[in-house]
Amino acid sequence: MRLKNRVAVITGASQGIGRAVALRYAAEGASLAIIDVNVAGGEETAALINAEGGKAIFVRCDISDKADVVSAAEAVKKELGPIDILVNNAGITRPAMLHKMTDTEWHQVINVHMHGSFYWLQAVVHDMIERKWGRIIFVSSSTAQNGSIGQINYSAAKSAMLGMMRTAARELGKHNILVNAIAPAAATEMTKTIMNDPKFEAAREAALKQHPLRRSAEPEEIAPAFLYLASEESSYVTGQVLSVDGGSMLVR
Ligand SMILES: NC(=O)c1ccc[n+]([C@@H]2O[C@H](COP(=O)([O-])OP(=O)(O)OC[C@H]3O[C@@H](n4cnc5c(N)ncnc54)[C@H](O)[C@@H]3O)[C@@H](O)[C@H]2O)c1
Repeated sequence: MRLKNRVAVITGASQGIGRAVALRYAAEGASLAIIDVNVAGGEETAALINAEGGKAIFVRCDISDKADVVSAAEAVKKELGPIDILVNNAGITRPAMLHKMTDTEWHQVINVHMHGSFYWLQAVVHDMIERKWGRIIFVSSSTAQNGSIGQINYSAAKSAMLGMMRTAARELGKHNILVNAIAPAAATEMTKTIMNDPKFEAAREAALKQHPLRRSAEPEEIAPAFLYLASEESSYVTGQVLSVDGGSMLVR
């Protein structure tokens, strides 16, 4: 049990990568706080964990709202105790070419990824400093490095998360708090629109031919990397971006 007695907060754990990570952490002994705006999905993730004999609570929280984050963090501490592990995973996309992007599309994406991650970072860090132990994982994206056509809001927000991650790693290392990022690629609700749209079939097939592993992954295949970065095994790793994308970054 690599996370025995640890309390982990995972934002956006109602589905997709966040849920897979939550299930994996629970199987390794952590108590889980499932944070999301999707109530049905969040309650289902918590129920799946509790049914297996684990411990999980769902707390509804819009991470782009600071007051919501502050009260959710309080609720988690009251129910589960001080937070040891934070996974800043919740995310949205609002694609549009930059000359057509509305202010709303811009702000929604920036607010969730950038502001939401910062609010949660601040909400957990005091207890981690006091307890001299912490693991924080930002979920970024290859778009932080490569950009992404039609997603200037998303790639800007994901780049900002890496800036936060590196600064936090430098500020918090002396307190034994390790801060890293994962740039994942997995088939989820978020990618489904592109995966299922016949318009993108030719582009998808061409991309798959170039892909080193010739396939996409399920979220469960991404989760072990999150386990590594949350465990004692990563005790000398901080300030890093781990791409868990089957090597697809190599061929862009
Ligand atoms: N799937 C991929 O290939 C891929 C690639 C690169 C990066 N990512 C990143 O991985 C993370 C997880 O993505 P996924 O593919 O599992 O997506 P997903 O859409 O399946 O899950 C995202 C979750 O975040 C929640 N969420 C959205 N806005 C929220 C808010 N304001 N407050 C609380 N919860 C909120 C959603 O309700 C959902 O449960 C995201 O940050 C995404 O940007 C995914």
